[in-house]
Amino acid sequence: MNIIFLGPPGAGKGTQAQKICSALNIPQISTGDILRRAMKEGTETGLKAKSFIDAGQLVPDEVIIDIVKERLAMDDCRQGYILDGFPRTVPQAEALDTFAAIDCVIELDVKDEVLVERLSGRRVCVKCGATYHLSMLNGKTTCDVCGEELIQRNDDKAETVLNRLKVYHDQTAPLIGYYENKGLLKKVDGAQGLENTFAAIMKTLGAQA
Ligand code: AP5
Ligand code: MG
Repeated sequence: MNIIFLGPPGAGKGTQAQKICSALNIPQISTGDILRRAMKEGTETGLKAKSFIDAGQLVPDEVIIDIVKERLAMDDCRQGYILDGFPRTVPQAEALDTFAAIDCVIELDVKDEVLVERLSGRRVCVKCGATYHLSMLNGKTTCDVCGEELIQRNDDKAETVLNRLKVYHDQTAPLIGYYENKGLLKKVDGAQGLENTFAAIMKTLGAQA
């Protein structure tokens, strides 16, 4: 099944995509992760993307569309995939329609006040990217998965978070109507706990948890 996770920053796209992908054994394609890796490696794409990401702006469509097109052409995508963080603009969605057949769009719905709290408390592993929230760490500063250090993402600082939310409402939220019109949109309450949200998504996808 070819699935899109749509939702504002902090809605839980990455957290849930990771869980659903391992349950369904399909790849998680996170454009944010791809861009952060490119920045870390200092590639041309990474250098182009850095100023946009640090300011909480979207990177230009032409940069991201080719990356996703190439990634979806890889063998591991033949049995399906979850797109986490793409598309994020109407032109990206229109481009996607030319090279992919999407079966379902899951919209994770969470209020802005909750998002700000989640993002300011988010910590991620420098090595494997596993995601945590301060409230679940009890003072721990290393990753349960690989033991490396946990850090705050640069774009999770307060002023950048507010900008990312504005960008979401202005540029990405129109995709809700775009996919509703195609009959593909399924809304899931993302403000439930991690396990309840996971179960609700699996049910919506018609999969066994
Ligand atoms: P990206 O990395 O995609 O960031 P984002 O969309 O802003 O989303 P986040 O990763 O911040 O949130 P999430 O929904 O994954 O939440 P998470 O699961 O981590 O993109 C970063 C940047 O890259 C963009 O700003 C842009 O510049 C660029 N970019 C990427 N794609 C692009 C594109 N297509 N076009 C142009 N530019 C692009 O959860 C958040 C926190 O909440 C965690 O601490 C987690 O533990 C906690 N949490 C999650 N679920 C729950 C729950 N149910 N209950 C309690 N806590 C929870
Ligand atoms: Mg994410």
